[in-house]
Amino acid sequence: MTESTQQFTTTQTGTPVASDAHSLTVGADGATVLHDRYLVEKLAQFNRERIPERIVHAKGGGAFGELVVTGDVSAYTRAAVFQPGATSETLLRFSSVAGELGSPDTWRDVRGFALKFYTTEGNLDIVGNNTPVFFIRDAIKFPDFIHSQKRLPGSGLRNSDMQWDFWTLSPESAHQVTYLMGDRGLPRSWRHVNGYGSHTYQWINAAGERFWVKYHFIARQGVETIEAGEAEAIAGADADFYRRDLYEAIERGDYPTWDVKVQIMPYDEAKTYRFNPFDLTKVWPHADYPLVEVGHFTLNRNPQNHFAEIEQAAFSPANQVPGTDISPDKMLMARVFSYPDAQRYRVGTNYNQLPVNAPHAAPVHNYSQDGAQRHHFNAPSTPVYAPNSFGGPHADPARAAEGSWEHDGELVRAAATLHAEDSDFGQAGTLYREVFSDESKARFLATLTGQARAISIEEIRERFFQYWTNVDAGLGASLRAAYAAEPVADVPQQPEAGEPEPDEVHAA
Ligand code: HEM
Repeated sequence: MTESTQQFTTTQTGTPVASDAHSLTVGADGATVLHDRYLVEKLAQFNRERIPERIVHAKGGGAFGELVVTGDVSAYTRAAVFQPGATSETLLRFSSVAGELGSPDTWRDVRGFALKFYTTEGNLDIVGNNTPVFFIRDAIKFPDFIHSQKRLPGSGLRNSDMQWDFWTLSPESAHQVTYLMGDRGLPRSWRHVNGYGSHTYQWINAAGERFWVKYHFIARQGVETIEAGEAEAIAGADADFYRRDLYEAIERGDYPTWDVKVQIMPYDEAKTYRFNPFDLTKVWPHADYPLVEVGHFTLNRNPQNHFAEIEQAAFSPANQVPGTDISPDKMLMARVFSYPDAQRYRVGTNYNQLPVNAPHAAPVHNYSQDGAQRHHFNAPSTPVYAPNSFGGPHADPARAAEGSWEHDGELVRAAATLHAEDSDFGQAGTLYREVFSDESKARFLATLTGQARAISIEEIRERFFQYWTNVDAGLGASLRAAYAAEPVADVPQQPEAGEPEPDEVHAA
């Protein structure tokens, strides 16, 4: 924040003003005059204080910290940020997905977990969630999916019929919806969630060898959740419950830390792995690809200004560094277009020049120029085009092979190839049967019974029962029985903190 160097209030252009209490009027009770430039400037500036909220993940909060690399993954990536002993300034923004800017933090939802590492080779963003999978596997469905979770155009209300209509007509959603309707849909705080890159990304080592990786960020605070009744009460009492918790924890020096781990798949194993490794609705069981230590990051600095540093923060899976890249996951390939496009609209063409988005540890050299709100510019003698004969910056040919993979060649619109054990419901059933504790299962059943009651269209409710029967036949039968019975208020208690972390055993 720029401190004012003088005592007087000034206009935006630095001139002292006469009053912050009285407009300029014709006599004390007369008309206000248009040439009260300060009044006009003050009102006009105020009218422009808001920028559009994010189309998804609008409500959030975040903090800065530091990544420290304690492991040695140099055999898999040449990225400077992941070399042994490296440290990088870090920004993490948490969010809810569906609610608007002012929505209560404790509505049941997936939580966003967006990381920005300010590395010496440019910014690396890992824009993930607190779940390792997603609702859909093709980006062309994303706007429809989000419409179904937001509000009806007429009433402006959220609506269970359209949510479940979409989900039950999109069976690939079952794995993520199982997470969402389970305990993880209601975290105790942002400090008590794990983060996941979710997608498969690519790593490239110094020899040019390629690997497929999945990022895991495991909360040292443990994963803790709250019960549905408590979440509802908090939503009414304190809409900013998670934002407050994170801010206050950091203010009192109680810095949250996440261990950074990766699953690593040799490049060629992708073709024959039992699950399609580029299908975002699937995990790689840890028994197949165990977690490998990278390091940890700690959040230790609150933003000085929420708007400048969090609301205007722009994360994008397109922000990769030498030694990291994307994969042929159809969702990821679309996301690398979608985020910068959204940010040019939401924040402005030159959003990457804002202090929170600009690289902090690497220079920027390119031939882009101008545009609204341009701040940085090159010296007048710098060439404005490439190639040039005047020593301007040039591209790095060593990077040409990075971020590549073989493909089929034909342009088609088709579902991804099925691998041996691919099915929409298989991993959802494993999550329910082998990861959820008995208490979690009971809460899950209670949540789903409530959801069934909120559906008003019989055909959608029947599809809902079939969807959960496909996940687990016993669950489907229990759900039908619970729905048919009288509503019960008795929701089972929360598990004790410190139960085994579900991902550790999501291994079947
Ligand atoms: C935010 C699009 C899938 C996590 C956003 C934004 C857009 C978007 C446009 C707002 C960006 C901004 O205004 O700054 C999409 C599309 C997707 C997709 C088109 C599918 C093709 C996902 C997935 C994840 C995810 C799979 C997680 C694994 C997030 C997070 C944010 C976000 C965490 C908030 C980032 C922040 O804190 O600023 N998404 N998204 N999205 N998305 Fe996605």
